[in-house]
Amino acid sequence: MKRALITGITGQDGSFLAEFLLAKGYQVHGIVRRASTFNTERLEAIYKDQHEAGVGLFLHYGDVSDGTGFRHILERAQPDEVYNLAAQSHVRVSFDQAEYTADVVATGTLRILEAVRDYARQGRSPRMYQAGSSEMFGAAPPPQNESTRFYPRSPYAVSKCAAHWYAVNYREAYGLFICNGILFNHESPRRGETFVTRKITRALARIKLGLQKKLYLGNLEARRDWGYAGDYVEAMWLMLQQPSPDDYVVATGESHSVREFLDTAADYCGVNWKNCVETDPRYFRPTEVDVLLGDASKARERLGWRPRVTFEELVRMMVDHDLELARQEETLVAAGHSLLRQGGASYR
Ligand code: NAP
Ligand code: GDD
Repeated sequence: MKRALITGITGQDGSFLAEFLLAKGYQVHGIVRRASTFNTERLEAIYKDQHEAGVGLFLHYGDVSDGTGFRHILERAQPDEVYNLAAQSHVRVSFDQAEYTADVVATGTLRILEAVRDYARQGRSPRMYQAGSSEMFGAAPPPQNESTRFYPRSPYAVSKCAAHWYAVNYREAYGLFICNGILFNHESPRRGETFVTRKITRALARIKLGLQKKLYLGNLEARRDWGYAGDYVEAMWLMLQQPSPDDYVVATGESHSVREFLDTAADYCGVNWKNCVETDPRYFRPTEVDVLLGDASKARERLGWRPRVTFEELVRMMVDHDLELARQEETLVAAGHSLLRQGGASYR
């Protein structure tokens, strides 16, 4: 049985990847940050009490700012594959928490690489996936592929570039099997509520049911290459199954503006967004990434990977999910509960 270790398992991608690997028969280990409230909601469908028979998912407390703790987990889990997905992944927040973002995203990756290097010295041959981002391309003109020069536009993107080059350097210097996935935006009903797609679908659903009146957004003209997260975790795994390590762009090859996403979601939801959307300058970024449009020819040819879910299907899937959540909220409100789940969305 193969073993995988996932940092960032509680996040959107981590939860999809854990499901994907469990379905392939892997034993999956994941790192969870200690928090004062439960933060494993996305894993609820696959988590089993450790005392039950046939458990395939094991969770360990850890943090990528703690290299020693990570080494202990590596020793316990003994993975064949390590997926480094942990990150302060919000671009706007990275302008407010630049040092912290660098510590987790850049130096956190370095800590993992150092631990993996020592682990490999013990005669193990771990393969590692590093979660790179299309944000690294930043202001570079589209379409972007593996040969496009990086031009990062935020502390998050600069930190991801550092992590990318650390990974390349450890591959070349120590002969480690490390792949950088340069993934363009990918979304799902599990997307964090403060990323623009989920912020839109969640707000439209709540507006439709009278639970919210306004939606405040920033730049509607930015364009992104949006795919479905469930499709993208397969590409991560495929990279680690190749005979040699390499770097790959993963994207749909289609770009839409935030305004187009809003139009499509509002149409499907049956809401006239022009009556309820307003601009709030706090959601603009000091430096914006205007257009991301990926060319994933290499992943298509070498990995045989292609996206399955279309833009329209993705939007509908997210709206349907958030309408269902809004209906549940409506029922609770009707039973006398105060409005739920307001935290966060208004200040980020
Ligand atoms: P996400 O939903 O924000 O999840 C981030 C994960 O990292 C969460 O599990 C989070 O834990 C964990 N984390 C944060 N700080 C940590 C720390 N100090 N130590 C350990 N874990 C920590 O992000 P995602 O969308 O799944 O993305 C996964 C990875 O791909 C990230 O590295 C992201 O930057 C990158 N990426 C994402 C996209 C995209 O469009 N989704 C595109 C390109 C690259 P908590 O749950 O406790 O917060
Ligand atoms: N979050 C947010 N909130 N973004 C807004 C808003 C708003 O109210 N209004 C407009 N936008 C615009 C942003 O300015 C940006 O141009 C675009 O919507 C997408 O923003 P996000 O959804 O926050 O995603 P991102 O593209 O900045 O970053 C995501 O994708 C990267 C890959 O390209 C994150 O998942 C990163 O972790 C990931 O690396």
